[in-house]
Amino acid sequence: MKRFSDQIKKAADIILSGGVVAFPTETVYGLGASAYDDNACQSIYHLKGRPLNNPLIIHVLSLHDAEKFAIFSDDAKKLALQLWPGPFTMVLPKRNDTGLSKLVTAGLDTVAIRVPAHHIFRQLLESVHSPIAAPSANKSGYLSPTRYQHVADAFKNDKLFIVQCDDKIQYGLESTIIDVTTDPMTILRHGFITKDVIENISMQGVVYNEASNDHIKAPGMMYKHYSPITPIRINALSVEENEAALNFGDSNLHAKYQLNLSKEADLAIAASNLYSYLHELDNIALQKRLSHIAIAPIPNENIGIAINDRLNRAIG
Ligand code: TXA
Ligand code: MG
Repeated sequence: MKRFSDQIKKAADIILSGGVVAFPTETVYGLGASAYDDNACQSIYHLKGRPLNNPLIIHVLSLHDAEKFAIFSDDAKKLALQLWPGPFTMVLPKRNDTGLSKLVTAGLDTVAIRVPAHHIFRQLLESVHSPIAAPSANKSGYLSPTRYQHVADAFKNDKLFIVQCDDKIQYGLESTIIDVTTDPMTILRHGFITKDVIENISMQGVVYNEASNDHIKAPGMMYKHYSPITPIRINALSVEENEAALNFGDSNLHAKYQLNLSKEADLAIAASNLYSYLHELDNIALQKRLSHIAIAPIPNENIGIAINDRLNRAIG
């Protein structure tokens, strides 16, 4: 593995010459390019196999930088000051003449912005001096990547440069997304920053955008998502023959191939292990031709809400 500084320089050179690279963030690996560059953004969609109507998050170094692209209400500013940098994305009214590629926002008049905390991502942003548009570095529909190898496997035919870092990713789950252009504000995607945390900071009620709403605000939420190739079976109380098992706490799913998201029943640990354990079980299940991954019930509270949300979307 090359030194980080060499890898970051190479990644920055690729982005500055209009290319796409992958890199770790504190949530999941990202697949990034200059948010100003139409061709580069087009390549992101192409590489992921992502529909063009599903906009991208832009990443910047600070609230100050974010204000060049979007208009912040007092509440949005409060949230930014307390939760950035971190696993938190806001959908905001877009300013005019930002220079952002239209592909980033898929023609919407809002823009999703996150200020990341990961040292590699921040050094990359410092090197390129432009916002980086970055979805998760997976093929559209599949599990998000939390390890170098997940990205390398997914893009093995794409000659993609991936910044390699063997440290465990801190969160392992995509950022919480909140739309601050609605009244009340709407959670578009659950994550480590929970509804309670947001309500405490903004002193306002926040609603969740149920998938059943007519008007789906995060276009990405329309599709089957976050899914292993092997079908999953949730809230499983027992395991059928020919299934792999994913336990939580003292759940007792017995299978030849089994993992436990958190033996101590710690939801934050379970969330951080979710994608890597599903990748692992999916690879085994595909090799051994297992029929399902049976998953024990996960309490629907706190970060468990984000876990159950991903599992439900994986079912479609
Ligand atoms: O943790 C994360 O957020 C990671 C890392 C790389 O930052 N990124 C990520 O991006 O998860 P992606 O593209 O996989 O998910 C972004 C979601 C999509 O569902 C997309 O539809 C939604 O954000 N989104 C982006 N811009 C939006 C906008 N203007 N309005 C509503 N939803 C938006
Ligand atoms: Mg994604």
